[in-house]
Amino acid sequence: MNAAKYIWMNGEFIPWEKAQIHVLSHTLHYGNGVIEGTKAYKTDKGYAIFRLNDHTRRLKESAKMTLINIPYTVEELDNAQIELIRINEFTGDNVYIRPFAFLGYGVMGLYHKDAPVETAIAAWEWGAYLGEEGMQRGIRLKVASMTRPANTSNMGKAKATANYLNSQMAKFEAIESGYDEALLLDDHGYVAEASGAGFFMVREGKLISPPNDNSLESITQKTVIEYAEDLGYEVIRRRISREELYIADEAFLTGTAAEITPVREIDARIVGEGHRGPITEKIQSGYFDIVFGRNKKYEHYLTYVTQ
Ligand SMILES: Cc1ncc(COP(=O)(O)O)c(C=O)c1O
Repeated sequence: MNAAKYIWMNGEFIPWEKAQIHVLSHTLHYGNGVIEGTKAYKTDKGYAIFRLNDHTRRLKESAKMTLINIPYTVEELDNAQIELIRINEFTGDNVYIRPFAFLGYGVMGLYHKDAPVETAIAAWEWGAYLGEEGMQRGIRLKVASMTRPANTSNMGKAKATANYLNSQMAKFEAIESGYDEALLLDDHGYVAEASGAGFFMVREGKLISPPNDNSLESITQKTVIEYAEDLGYEVIRRRISREELYIADEAFLTGTAAEITPVREIDARIVGEGHRGPITEKIQSGYFDIVFGRNKKYEHYLTYVTQ
């Protein structure tokens, strides 16, 4: 990975290589932690963080769900992210920001009430999550053999580190099978989300995306819905069964890291014409206009980092 200069940890900016923890930190053993994934883009007016407040609020909400008490306000965490981008003196087109909270050293056993909460924010330059070629040509998606855990035993809406074991197994399986990314169904067999992104398909000119019954409430998904409706497209939130995936006219993934990644194949079925579809392309280029500050209507989603 691309190391940066500083990491924010428990209220202080410290050198990147000094941001270390004890091997007996609680989260390393029992998996209760929460993360965010936020992104800053280099606009004509300097770096701007996209939907900063929405991401930070989601971090605090994930923590509330998983019983982690982050001792910082949303405002304090927002300001720390702005300052982190400033002092790291990045130069690339975009910077990924990873705020997170986890349980540190001092308590063992599952009852975590007295475990110290550690809060940190790292930021680094990161290229296209699913590859530059994938952004142009589209990626190949495999439906994972594992489903998302049922809502009766999981908290899919929390961006909890524990949820990423399921994602990690699915992603590994997809790549080992020669695909680029995994798509996970819910325990009833309907599409939930990709291992680290939301899912959209296009049929008869309409955009369809599953409800967040068993998936993260994706901020990019929300942005795409708002933007697509602005463009005059009908967007439908409904369940998608596996066989319907195979007859989609177009498909794409949405995520802060994945941005808008076209899908060209699902489980050996060619999607549409086998390349990025026309509606996908429109949404993708419109999304980049928004995050790079080229669409005035969406400028309220940008937090500029002044130098
Ligand atoms: C499991 C999962 N679903 C969906 C998303 C997309 O969410 P967002 O658009 O808020 O980045 C992510 C990315 O963080 C994710 O990890």
